[in-house]
Amino acid sequence: MKKFALSLFVLISVIFLVACQGDDEKIPVSGEASDGVQEMKIKFAHVVAENTPKHKGALKMKEYIEKESGGKIEVEIYPNSSLFGDQDEYQNLVANNIQFIAPDLTKFVGNNPQFNVPALPFMFDDDDEAIAFWDGEKGKEVLASLKNDGVIGLSMWPNGGKHLTNGKRSISSPEDLKGLKFRTQGGQVLESIYHALGAGSESIPFGELYTALDQGVVDGQENTFSNIESKKFDEVQKYMTVMNHTRVDYAVFTNTKFWDSMNEATKKIVEDGLAAGTEVARAEAKSLNEKALETIKERGNVEIVELTPEQVEEFRKVLEPIYKEYEEEIGADVIEAAREAAK
Ligand code: LMR
Repeated sequence: MKKFALSLFVLISVIFLVACQGDDEKIPVSGEASDGVQEMKIKFAHVVAENTPKHKGALKMKEYIEKESGGKIEVEIYPNSSLFGDQDEYQNLVANNIQFIAPDLTKFVGNNPQFNVPALPFMFDDDDEAIAFWDGEKGKEVLASLKNDGVIGLSMWPNGGKHLTNGKRSISSPEDLKGLKFRTQGGQVLESIYHALGAGSESIPFGELYTALDQGVVDGQENTFSNIESKKFDEVQKYMTVMNHTRVDYAVFTNTKFWDSMNEATKKIVEDGLAAGTEVARAEAKSLNEKALETIKERGNVEIVELTPEQVEEFRKVLEPIYKEYEEEIGADVIEAAREAAK
């Protein structure tokens, strides 16, 4: 009798525990509906604001996936480092606490130095050239290079060319950077760029950048117009130089644990949703950056320098040795493929 009561108690406890498991316990995959689509909740975390190509792409993905799955798949987007930031989103992707991230690729150079491509000075003139590289054979190989961590790079999303802002002085020649300290997204190539220009650098998470600029931890930073405008960095900076010397390019990454847990019907919807998101991110990046530049001009917080072709050439010359310096680490084949895409 005692045994029976104990078994009954254990059984009731198990039922109670299962019943208490909240909605979150369904993550990412649970039951399968009659049409074969699995019910699940997908989390997409990123660090930028809503009015950016990355967030717009993520929103399109959400809209597509939720509609096409008839609501069986729910997509939650966490912008502005609100769930995880630069410091912890990768670990949480690996742990399958989130299913998608779309980081600036230069933040992954610690895993693979080939992710330095967007930081190679003046490599790409525009989004199309960068897209051509990442969609090409070498680009795809680099995106696939995190598989030992159980991470898959699915699709490149551009943001755009980066420009310098700082709080100390107007910059129109390499000498103007001497003695200043800039925040970078991370990585050896960006560090070498500032070193070659006689400046210091420090990698700081995006979510902490506004405060770092405001408090003078660093004098300046480099970013796209869209990131400068949407995060209001111009409020805490006095000068901006339109440089287009390096880029912010992303890829949407997922983890294999989640990816392989989907059946065919479910994966098709998610893949098509990603394709729809990619289309929007790629189509909107340029115009969002152009609009952001207009807004920065209207706000009037920063004095803007547009470099002449001769001034650009001066920067190019100083930064050219970086290609030789990193040829071995990045790979001559990868650099060559990027050059081909940039033609
Ligand atoms: C930055 O850290 O400056 C950017 O890479 C943020 C982003 O994701 O665009």
